[in-house]
Amino acid sequence: MTKSFNCGEPVGRRAILKAGIGLGIQLSLGQESPGQEEGASQRPKEGDLLVRVGDSTVTPLTPADIPVRGKQTMAWPMDPTDKTVRNGSRLNRVLLLRLDPEKLSPETKSRAADGVVAYTAICTHTGCEVTEWVADEQLLVCPCHESRFEPKDAARVVDGPAPRMLPALPLKLTNGTLVVAKPFTGPVAFEVQ
Ligand code: FES
Repeated sequence: MTKSFNCGEPVGRRAILKAGIGLGIQLSLGQESPGQEEGASQRPKEGDLLVRVGDSTVTPLTPADIPVRGKQTMAWPMDPTDKTVRNGSRLNRVLLLRLDPEKLSPETKSRAADGVVAYTAICTHTGCEVTEWVADEQLLVCPCHESRFEPKDAARVVDGPAPRMLPALPLKLTNGTLVVAKPFTGPVAFEVQ
């Protein structure tokens, strides 16, 4: 059941989404603390590197580390100066895919590096992680309520209850390494139920 943030008054989808965005900001602020911990909760910035979730060696990822047309690789951004992995907020978790550059929409191609695209791993519906991959159709799937996203075209919603596309994290290559080119294309947020 969807929670209302409006003292019993009906709350529309837009308002709920706004509340979700608010919650996202609250989550982020709530986890910040001085020094490295603060950096760990900050959203990815231009120049950040990407490291695989669970990689204790924090080795920056390259396109060769991402399987071609394979299942998504989960990653965290990392500050290149002090190697702070930005894992202090789950809203920073991103998914990486390596796709055929010729199959990408112009918008998505402009954000890709050697065919590698990055999106938030947090579903815009109610915030589950988008962990499933349909290889035949090359679609991302959220396991919670089966929303499907088209990663070759800005991760637009092609099926399911998700209200909007997954925000993208534009990438570039620097000396063969994947680097964040720009912040997320939109707020990482979800509806609260
Ligand atoms: S949380 Fe992803 S489809 Fe519901």
